[in-house]
Amino acid sequence: MGIYQSALAGQRLSVPVRYEALEARAKEVMSPEAFDYVAGGAGSEATMRANLDAFQRWRIRPRMLRDVSARSLATTLLGQKLGAPVLLAPVGVQNIVHPDGEIAVARAAASVDVPIVLSGLSSFPMEQVAQAMGSTPRWFQLYWSSERDILTSLVQRAERAGYSAIVVTVDSTTIGWRERDLTRAYLPFLQGHGLGNYFSDPVFRAGLSEPPEQNPIPAIQRCAALFGHAAPRSWEDLRWLRSQTSLPILPKGVLRADDAARAVDEGMNGIVVSNHGGRQVDGSVASLEALPEIVEAVRNRIPILLDSGIRRGSDAFKALALGADAVLLGRPYVWGLGCAGQAGVRDVVLNFLADLDLAFGLSGYAGPGDLDEQAIVGATQ
Ligand code: FNR
Repeated sequence: MGIYQSALAGQRLSVPVRYEALEARAKEVMSPEAFDYVAGGAGSEATMRANLDAFQRWRIRPRMLRDVSARSLATTLLGQKLGAPVLLAPVGVQNIVHPDGEIAVARAAASVDVPIVLSGLSSFPMEQVAQAMGSTPRWFQLYWSSERDILTSLVQRAERAGYSAIVVTVDSTTIGWRERDLTRAYLPFLQGHGLGNYFSDPVFRAGLSEPPEQNPIPAIQRCAALFGHAAPRSWEDLRWLRSQTSLPILPKGVLRADDAARAVDEGMNGIVVSNHGGRQVDGSVASLEALPEIVEAVRNRIPILLDSGIRRGSDAFKALALGADAVLLGRPYVWGLGCAGQAGVRDVVLNFLADLDLAFGLSGYAGPGDLDEQAIVGATQ
């Protein structure tokens, strides 16, 4: 109603409502290499298509004549109360999308009280991003590196800056075969983008003969070396990480029941079911396809988050109905950032939440806690 009424007063949203139009607008305003970096996936991009198709193979079963006028999307995740089971996915190098990058996203997220998972490869240092968020919950995503001292330093900084969980990405032992970026020979990190947490890190800086502000080249090379032999290669690495922090740890990129069960056994505090938005393995199982077997294996012992292909409220509804505790919104908010900076992210997230609320209300469910097995069914064709 807000959208309809504002339009009467001559005010328009900063971004298109439809996802497809949002992406098209972003393409118009962003540089071609930045657009392709965000839009693209691994190889033939079959995994990206599978992510979207997977949602079409489930159908919501709306139930009628339930009074769901008192609805709430609120939920509790890892002991934190959230207004909705939605977080913003870690997306690196946001300054190639918009000069205000992660700062704009953090401000927008705080303005609508939606947590972010900050990428370890953010353009701005995590402390600066934290400052832009006030008391809104924030988590930190860690990419592994070959020097454990740097990992310890990053995790300790995250603790001090008020990040309340560590998401450790396990699907990126190396970067995927991304044909769009390979065609352009474009990798933003090699141009010094997305290294804000490293350039500001005392342990990282101690290994440099010149500070990055004076000469970025050796600093960029040092980063490339850190990621070149990146792990985590085994559960032992995660056990070591466990010994470094009291924060909850959630591996991101889990796609199989056996790995999910192992995560529980290893004392992980949650998992993120994800195929990195189709950017790592071409021809991979879709995240949503993997979800049911993982829900069965985890048996409610730790929370399960899901990303990869969440575009609209009904997608999130389906993931939640299949047993996810929360979803991560990825590319949609990045397009919002590209189109209109902070206001664009805010409008994309507000639209998404309103759409999700309607998916619940019109389907006869009062909120995530009200969902039952009857809420969803596999499509027959
Ligand atoms: C990502 N993703 C990602 N994941 C992560 O753990 N650390 C990161 O730095 C990044 N960076 C990143 C950059 C870009 C441009 C994209 C599109 C994605 C993956 C991200 O967290 C999430 O898994 C996907 O975006 C989900 O797919 P959809 O829904 O965005 O298609």
